[in-house]
Parts: sequence; C-alpha cells; structure tokens
Amino acid sequence: MGKVGPIFLNLLLSLCLAMPMVQCTIEGPEIEQWFQNLHLAKQKLTRLHFYFHDVVLGPSQTSVGVARAPNTFKSPTFFGLVNIFDNPLTKGPEPTSELLGRAQGLYGFASQEEVSLLMSVNFVFTSGKHNGSSLTVLGRNPVVHSVRELPIIGGTGVFRLARGLALAKTYFINTTLAIVEYNVVALHY
Ligand SMILES: *[C@@H]1O[C@H](CO)[C@@H](O)[C@H](O)[C@H]1NC(C)=O
Ligand SMILES: *[C@@H]1O[C@H](CO)[C@@H](O)[C@H](O)[C@H]1NC(C)=O
Repeated sequence: MGKVGPIFLNLLLSLCLAMPMVQCTIEGPEIEQWFQNLHLAKQKLTRLHFYFHDVVLGPSQTSVGVARAPNTFKSPTFFGLVNIFDNPLTKGPEPTSELLGRAQGLYGFASQEEVSLLMSVNFVFTSGKHNGSSLTVLGRNPVVHSVRELPIIGGTGVFRLARGLALAKTYFINTTLAIVEYNVVALHY
C-alpha cells in the first residue's frame, strides 16, 4: 500500500509532463522560441520580382487540367475548368532564365462573366536567401485585366506570418504557355 501511492503519482505526473512534451515535439522547440521572441521582432518588408511559366501543352507541360464541368467547353469563360500546376519561377522572362523556385497550386475558372481564376498557390523558393521558404497566395485573377492584384495570406521560413500583395501582369501568352510577371510585396517578421 505504501508503494502504490507514489507509483500512481509518478504515473500521473509523467502523463501530465508527457502532454506538453508531446505538443513541444510536434510544434518543434524552434517554432516555440520563435513565437516567444515575436514581440522583439521587427516587421520586414520584402519585394520580389519573378516570372511564372504556365505551360499547358507540349513536352515541357507543367500545368494540367484535372477537372471540368459538362458545359465547360461551351462556356465562353471556361467556367468549371480546374488546372493543377508545378510551374517554374524564373528571374527573367525567358524559360532558360535562372530558376528561383516553383509555383505549386491550382486555379479554377470561377466566373461566368469574364475569364477569371480562383488561384490557390504556394510560391516555393529554392535559391538564394529565400531558399526553403514559401509564400501562399489565395485570390481572384481576372486574367484579361492588364494588372491583377492577389492577396498573400501567409508564408513559411523567412516569410512566417506574411501578408501582402502579388501583382500579376501577363508578359506573353499563346495556346501553349503563359508567362506572367509577378511583383510581390510582403510584410513578415
Ligand atoms: C537550397 O536548400 C537545399 C536544402 O537545404 C539545398 O540542398 C540546396 O542546395 C539549396 N539550393 C541553393 C540553390 O542554394
Ligand atoms: C508559343 O510560344 C512558344 C514560345 O515562343 C513557342 O515555343 C510555341 O511553339 C508557341 N505555340 C504556338 C501554338 O504557337
């Protein structure tokens, strides 16, 4: 009887201790520390400029149609078509220009009035000081407008807690590919 008490207590104590430790392992100690120091962090403003290559046909296709509605190809705005893509992001407009990262995500033709996309994209950077970091865009892209404004709703790595805007401007388009110039401004810590 004398031993049961302490063993039970030890078990209870180790369970209680295990809970925060489990959470700690899932979130990672570095992330925990990062949030604890956030009040000391200064907000930073980062501007990025790159070109997005959406290749919808041919041997170097990077964007594929994955769904459509029965009436999509009767619709003047391709309403209901959905593409998923893993598109290169380059420094200059040429496809051979330096690779800065990938744009991974999907767009759906979401308007019956004009050709306009719902875009859900992660810009995943693979070079330079942003290597390993990402920015997430979720917004409306009326592709026939000369400049489209899309919200940046978050980020990872150096772009944690990012918010900002991505301005998209079509640089080149034919039936095989579209090259879109992006100017991004993001606030982050
Ligand atoms: C980007 O980071 C990865 C993983 O740390 C590394 O393997 C790769 O060489 C880096 N790329 C560049 C261009 O720095
Ligand atoms: C579209 O433009 C690219 C780049 O100039 C070219 O390689 C491709 O053949 C063009 N596609 C069509 C259908 O003209």
